[in-house]
Amino acid sequence: GSTTPSSGYILALDLGTTGNRAFVFNAEGKIVGQAYKELTQYYPQPGWLEHDPEEIWQDTCWVMETAIANAKIPPSAIAALGLTVQRETCLIWDKTTGKPLHKAIVWQDRRTAPLCQKLQQEGYAPEIYDRTGLIIDAYFSATKLRWLLDKFTDVDLNNVLAGTIDTWVLWKLTGGKVHATDHSNASRTMLMNLKTCEWDEILLKLFQIPAQILPQIQPSLGVFGVTDTTLLGVEIPISAILGDQQAALFGHGCHRPGLMKCTYGTGSFLVAHTGSQIVRSPEKLISTVAWTQRNSSGVLDVGYALEGSMFTSGACIQWLRDSLKLIKTAAETEAMANRVTDNGGVYFVPAFSGLGAPYWDMSARGAFFGITASAQPEHLVRAVLEAIAYQVVEVVQAINVSSGTSVGRLTVDGGACENDFLMQFQADVLGIPVERPIMRDTTVQGAAFAAGLAVGFWENYEALVQQRQIECVFEPKSNLSNFATWQKAVKRTLGWTD
Ligand code: G3P
Repeated sequence: GSTTPSSGYILALDLGTTGNRAFVFNAEGKIVGQAYKELTQYYPQPGWLEHDPEEIWQDTCWVMETAIANAKIPPSAIAALGLTVQRETCLIWDKTTGKPLHKAIVWQDRRTAPLCQKLQQEGYAPEIYDRTGLIIDAYFSATKLRWLLDKFTDVDLNNVLAGTIDTWVLWKLTGGKVHATDHSNASRTMLMNLKTCEWDEILLKLFQIPAQILPQIQPSLGVFGVTDTTLLGVEIPISAILGDQQAALFGHGCHRPGLMKCTYGTGSFLVAHTGSQIVRSPEKLISTVAWTQRNSSGVLDVGYALEGSMFTSGACIQWLRDSLKLIKTAAETEAMANRVTDNGGVYFVPAFSGLGAPYWDMSARGAFFGITASAQPEHLVRAVLEAIAYQVVEVVQAINVSSGTSVGRLTVDGGACENDFLMQFQADVLGIPVERPIMRDTTVQGAAFAAGLAVGFWENYEALVQQRQIECVFEPKSNLSNFATWQKAVKRTLGWTD
């Protein structure tokens, strides 16, 4: 078990929306080396967002090498590699040259909203929901892949490979030998059947995606291949691949019904494990794969989850810093919000990329409401933080309705959970305690745990996650919530670009 750990190390890669990171963990599950590099965001048009797959790959190599150097270990001491990625973002590349045909279209990108609206009007929503657990939205990969293929109608599809970021980086890591993905990432494409856990032929036909360009879907925990020796000089088994939200769920130890977590990253994602059953929500939460693994008899064990995806949270703090220049660092928002006694009547709707759960409105756009001449920068900043918390309230309410029981406590992670004002406000408006662990990089920790468990480096998942320590519990204090007013503001942003 994890009390008698093996020697050696686990390397985990977390390739996120705003940056790529690598962490080296020792056998006690402690971090001994790390590296991070911010990723360039390309906004070719309002509502569009692209990433350069070559940059993702180069940065992956750099963070891997740097984290290993910082850990002062030889690559040969690494027992396994775990990979976790931003989900839904996808690309196509040339199998022979290894070159992407176009930049990757990022999950937040809204360019395929018209195609999604057409599918809705044609009545496909119930069937797509039944087959995939997803609500038709430009967020998921299927329409993005369709857009890419429409752009390259003259290429020989026998020489094209498609994939999400895990698939691209796995292919690069293995020197072009392995073209695969895991069930958690595949469940976000809108092309995988949630019940059979295979590519859905009806959907491939609907989106006209040729099956041969798609990766093979494999269990999240299990060996996908080994790293090409030209990279680190040794072959390291790549033994876990998970979508980043699912990796955080794994890292938090949420492996059975009733356990859930909320990650405050670029967006906020509240994910609740639902066991081996697909749970359908009447409240527009999506059903998705948590993670999969073959059991000792070779049978695929599938864990499912319910998810409330909120597209914009940390991204609006970045926007306050980089575009509005109201702040110099994200951390400043805490002191600014505390300098005023309330929001001064100012409300913010973070619909930069439309709204996800529970609205699923691709045409909503961001807005400030209630501005008067007395509005100060502090009020705007506070309104942004409050909006991040209010979004989570809506999703928790949806989870309560869907599960029939009330959520009693919220476990959090991600960059914005550093903000004490936000966490206290979150506890206040939810009326339940918010629990923040010491280790905030739960995503990368989850990928490391999964990779180590898959190769027998660790044996006992429960013992591993029990080592997690809580840093702070924010107890609800006041309930001076203006949630209803915020919801009124949200309603005014719906249908904005229609
Ligand atoms: O679905 C998108 C999600 O996977 C992105 O996560 O951590 O990059 O905001 P993050």
